[in-house]
Amino acid sequence: MALSKTSLRHLPDLNDLDAATLEGLVDRACALAGGAPPQVIEQSVVNLFFEPSTRTRVSFELAAQRLGMTVVNIELERSSATKGESLEDTVATLAAMGIGHLVIRHPETGLPRRLMPVLPAGLRLLNAGDGTGEHPSQALLDAAPLRSNGLDFHHARVAIVGDIRHSRVARSSARLFSRLGVADIRLAGPAGWLPDDLDLPGAALFDDLERAIDQADVIMMLRVQKERMSPDDWPDQASYHRQWGLTAERLAGAAENCRVMHPGPINRGVEIADSVADGPQSLILDQVRLGVYARMALFEWLAES
Ligand code: NCD
Repeated sequence: MALSKTSLRHLPDLNDLDAATLEGLVDRACALAGGAPPQVIEQSVVNLFFEPSTRTRVSFELAAQRLGMTVVNIELERSSATKGESLEDTVATLAAMGIGHLVIRHPETGLPRRLMPVLPAGLRLLNAGDGTGEHPSQALLDAAPLRSNGLDFHHARVAIVGDIRHSRVARSSARLFSRLGVADIRLAGPAGWLPDDLDLPGAALFDDLERAIDQADVIMMLRVQKERMSPDDWPDQASYHRQWGLTAERLAGAAENCRVMHPGPINRGVEIADSVADGPQSLILDQVRLGVYARMALFEWLAES
């Protein structure tokens, strides 16, 4: 019997991935971090970032290099996008050169799904953040340090705090936590910053920080994404910190060994105090470290299709 050709996988978000696949990816990231030998993938990757990035871009680059892939970073200000080339034409041009993977970050929410039907054959797409939409690789790197810390997802209380409405991290991570079995997800932030479209099993909205983090096992703090707000909506930093900043005193109201997370970049003294960001309960740099392995696991998974 002739085998039907498997269609190429893409990663616009985590929506089509079932719990077993997601668990497999998180476990693979942890195994790679623990020294499991990586696959060798003889393909090339282009990083195409239309928004600023430090950790995500470097992390995708390192992940690809560790799998033996060739990586090309496009400097946008020196690319033909500045000459008016459409994104579709840029993508077709890269595919014609034999590029196998496109890692893309873009301010347009929903762009990866819009691009998927017009992608040239053979090109896999990985979303590295689309507007206020999704950030699937970030969700995996958020789950991986919790898994390697022995968190029991089924009994965990997880608080995600801050500018939820504009956060693609909150959207993807909350969905992943829910799929991994977390039944108590508290999405907390100022009234206008809570999502009106995130309908997830186990998730509830909070407009009070103390109540949201009460006995929490995990607190994920978010940056205030000023670049996605009009200046009229920018909060005063000192009063935001007073009401919504995670301080050592507030952290004392969470579970005893509550883990503190943040996707970065951090605005110290705004959403999080130095003593918490740098404190013993912080997993912030573990998130960054495991991010490379999470992205390696994703490249391996895409290469299977
Ligand atoms: C996040 C992003 O770009 O969505 N950063 C990241 O990728 N680690 C969060 C943010 O910018 O605040």
